[in-house]
Amino acid sequence: MSKVTYIDEVEIKNKTILLRVDFNVSLNKNLTIADDMRIQQALPTIKLLLKNNNRLIIVSHLGRPQGFDEKYSLRVVAERLKEYLPKEKIYLAKAIEELKNRPENIIVLENIRFFPKEKDYSNIFAKKLSSFADVYVNDAFGVCHRSDTSVIGPPKFIPSYGGLLLKKELETIAKVIKNPKKPVVAIIGGAKVSTKVGLINKLMKIVDYLIIGGGLANTFVCAQGHEIGASFCEYESVQLARKLLSLAKNNRAFIVLPVDAVVANNKEDKETEVVKIENIPQNKCIFDIGPETKAQIGGIIAKAKTIIWNGPVGYFENPAFRQGTDFIYYSITHNNKAMSIVGGGDTLAAISKKEYLDKITHISTGGGALLEYIEKGTLPGIEALKK
Ligand code: 3PG
Repeated sequence: MSKVTYIDEVEIKNKTILLRVDFNVSLNKNLTIADDMRIQQALPTIKLLLKNNNRLIIVSHLGRPQGFDEKYSLRVVAERLKEYLPKEKIYLAKAIEELKNRPENIIVLENIRFFPKEKDYSNIFAKKLSSFADVYVNDAFGVCHRSDTSVIGPPKFIPSYGGLLLKKELETIAKVIKNPKKPVVAIIGGAKVSTKVGLINKLMKIVDYLIIGGGLANTFVCAQGHEIGASFCEYESVQLARKLLSLAKNNRAFIVLPVDAVVANNKEDKETEVVKIENIPQNKCIFDIGPETKAQIGGIIAKAKTIIWNGPVGYFENPAFRQGTDFIYYSITHNNKAMSIVGGGDTLAAISKKEYLDKITHISTGGGALLEYIEKGTLPGIEALKK
């Protein structure tokens, strides 16, 4: 059976490496880095490759720019990398041609999504990128669910390996989701049902409780027949949500939806009100889960032996609506009998205090990638590395 070979299983010395990482860090409004976990987690791979006298061309995306956009420059990332590797000379290359003859050991190529053929897969662009290196290393678990050129292309042209972060992510996630200890609880936030149908279907087969929060929950609440006032709802998916609810009855999974909510006039509002889910006022919007929902969820998380969490359950950007998300974080970190996986930079950015992070079994650098990996058992970026 074909499999991924990792950089600690082969000798890679004195080479130029095209290293794909996911440095898509969350940024503050003033464009400084809000959370650099994705940079820190790639350091073991970078250090191992440097130790063996390799030269690195680091490739990453940041955000979703449509062509060149200074706002999404990797400059902040290259500067942070310098802080972690003070002895190294790091150069930020704006154009592909610059990759050829630079004297530095580490060259960070400017945001790969500034190049039009990154999102629009191109063999020619993949070949061009590969032509500057001897070896390709993918350590970008967070973007392995995308069939972007720099994720799936280079293995067609040069010897390719997985990095240490990719290895750690895949091994740890597999350990938690294959034969998980029961009860298994998944908490899923986010906005759209339509993008999560496959995942919800899969989770219903492996979990005992599926807790749904965030904007996603509104569509399900609608499907239960409740009015949700002026709240966000994906109306075209209400029928689908109804089908998923009835499917859940045939599976073992128990779908947990909010029974009360924190509502307000708009997302900037500081005046909030707690109401039962069947009494959402016509002109108000749901922005967080309410206390009764928290009590229910807290009881379920406390009994769990395996926990998977992705996505805030409220509009955390306004502290008035962050309590539900913080509550879930505290409930998970206070359950010391459970294995837990928390995914996605946004989930971490949503938590106000990070003092218990070490109580989580595995903090994944993937958001969408983590969910798709759980759903499908593999990802395009992983398949591309297999031989
Ligand atoms: C992520 O943040 O989930 C990854 O970096 C992928 O980013 P994308 O959703 O813009 O492809």
